[in-house]
Amino acid sequence: MPGKPELPRSHEECFRRVSEATPAILFVCLGNICRSPLAEGAFRHEAQLAGLEVEIDSAGTGGWHQGEPPDQRARAAAKAGGVDISNLRARQVRLDDFDRFTHIFAMDEQNLADLKAMAPAGSKAEITLLLDLVSGREGASVSDPYYGGEEMFDYTWEDVSTASRALVEKLTA
Ligand code: 4NP
Repeated sequence: MPGKPELPRSHEECFRRVSEATPAILFVCLGNICRSPLAEGAFRHEAQLAGLEVEIDSAGTGGWHQGEPPDQRARAAAKAGGVDISNLRARQVRLDDFDRFTHIFAMDEQNLADLKAMAPAGSKAEITLLLDLVSGREGASVSDPYYGGEEMFDYTWEDVSTASRALVEKLTA
């Protein structure tokens, strides 16, 4: 008969094991009202479809829109894709994010450079561009739709949805 599996000795140990095994994903753009809330919504949707246990959040490198819901055009693009992101609220990246999250995905090169400059030495989060997940799009940025027309938000939704499906595959491989 195989030996009994070793049980955690305490609630603290049990919690630590579970939480260490759970991926925690942070999506980051500049304002946290357009691209990263779209990425958060798309990935929440894909993760739920896949039954994936994962922590998910988004934030901006800038704090100008703190507390605001996603841009109306972003909410409309997500809704057209079947996802409601109206309950999200913008927040700025914090230093503890670099330890709380296992993966931080930047929407563009500037977000990536800002995150790398902020990251405390020895922090555990893996920081990469979101589109590095998509074969053939490595090194590309999710274009900022803020100053563009509404159709730009549909392109953003497509990009973050494609990347979200790739991320589910990566985490379930
Ligand atoms: P996001 O877009 O970084 O995708 O949320 C922007 C939102 C706000 C501003 C720029 C980009 N802004 O300059 O206020």
